[in-house]
Amino acid sequence: MESSNINLVPKSLLKKHKQKINVNSEKILSEEIIIEKIKNIVIEENIYLISHYYTDPKIQKITEELNGCVSDSLQMAKAGSISDSQTIIVSGVKFMGETAKILSPEKTIIMPTLEATCSLDLGCPADDFKNFCESYPDREIVVYANTSAEVKALADWVVTSSIALEVVDYLDSEGKKILWAPDKHLGSYIRNQTKADMIMWDGACVVHEEFKHEGLKKLIKLHPDAEILVHPESPSSVVDLADCVGSTSQLINHANLSEAKKFVVATDKGIFYQLLKNNPEKEFYEAPTAGNGATCNSCSMCPWMGMNSIMNLYDAVKNKTHEISLDKKIMKEARISLDRMVNFK
Ligand code: 13P
Ligand code: SF4
Repeated sequence: MESSNINLVPKSLLKKHKQKINVNSEKILSEEIIIEKIKNIVIEENIYLISHYYTDPKIQKITEELNGCVSDSLQMAKAGSISDSQTIIVSGVKFMGETAKILSPEKTIIMPTLEATCSLDLGCPADDFKNFCESYPDREIVVYANTSAEVKALADWVVTSSIALEVVDYLDSEGKKILWAPDKHLGSYIRNQTKADMIMWDGACVVHEEFKHEGLKKLIKLHPDAEILVHPESPSSVVDLADCVGSTSQLINHANLSEAKKFVVATDKGIFYQLLKNNPEKEFYEAPTAGNGATCNSCSMCPWMGMNSIMNLYDAVKNKTHEISLDKKIMKEARISLDRMVNFK
């Protein structure tokens, strides 16, 4: 059901993104010093930084300037094991740090915070998921990367939104029936595209679930020349209006290559840093959510990604706080399904 406060297109929906950060000069000075300190330690100690496209633009910029990896969750998973650094700092949410640890158990994997989780991970507890899997013993278990190490240990395959379609298509062509978890919206999108036989866990992303069909249609009327970019964690009514449905990296690539000059983007706001940096001459608009409430329930910002800050990145770099540590048996089991993901095609 659409929320009543989007009968009119809210003014904020007309907000165009600009590359401008308003902070007072004192804060800029102290933050600049902290950023310098981060850079010095990272270089001196040969630390490798990996950051997701949804993190604070300042974190993305530092990562780029230090030749680290700023990417989607698939590339993040691969980057840790490719790097020759012994210490890796992952800015993002916990499953991203856990994935790096499982794929490089001999390395020290640190995060700015271990509190940053994900609604999909929280909504799929391993014990309940195990029971669910036991009810469908004849199915191939495919889980989204946005899950705990314990859930990955129960799976045959792990996928991210960059390769979920191809993996399911491949399994379907092999005559496999699929048990999919946890994101029902991404799962429905894949089922519609591939026509695979899929049983689904009932999970959703709290950020993407807020994007609204009616509001988006109104924005499209205001910008008929804009292309609509949608992450597949969004509801199908929003996906249906898209010109491009894809992972964060696929949406960025589409915007880079497209002839269009305007885009409406249905995913976390952190992505606008890359979109604007790569395409300063193009215009990007936020897709409408349910409202602009003070509680920020629907502000197109992942609350957990937002827990990564310059200050806790500095703490991680300097004091090596918040190291990822996982049960060895779980790591070994989860590695099987994760290896299938990183080695696919
Ligand atoms: P990507 O794999 O597309 O970067 O998505 C990760 C994510 O958590 C989206 O909400
Ligand atoms: Fe999880 Fe959604 Fe945040 Fe991505 S945006 S990390 S799916 S809660």
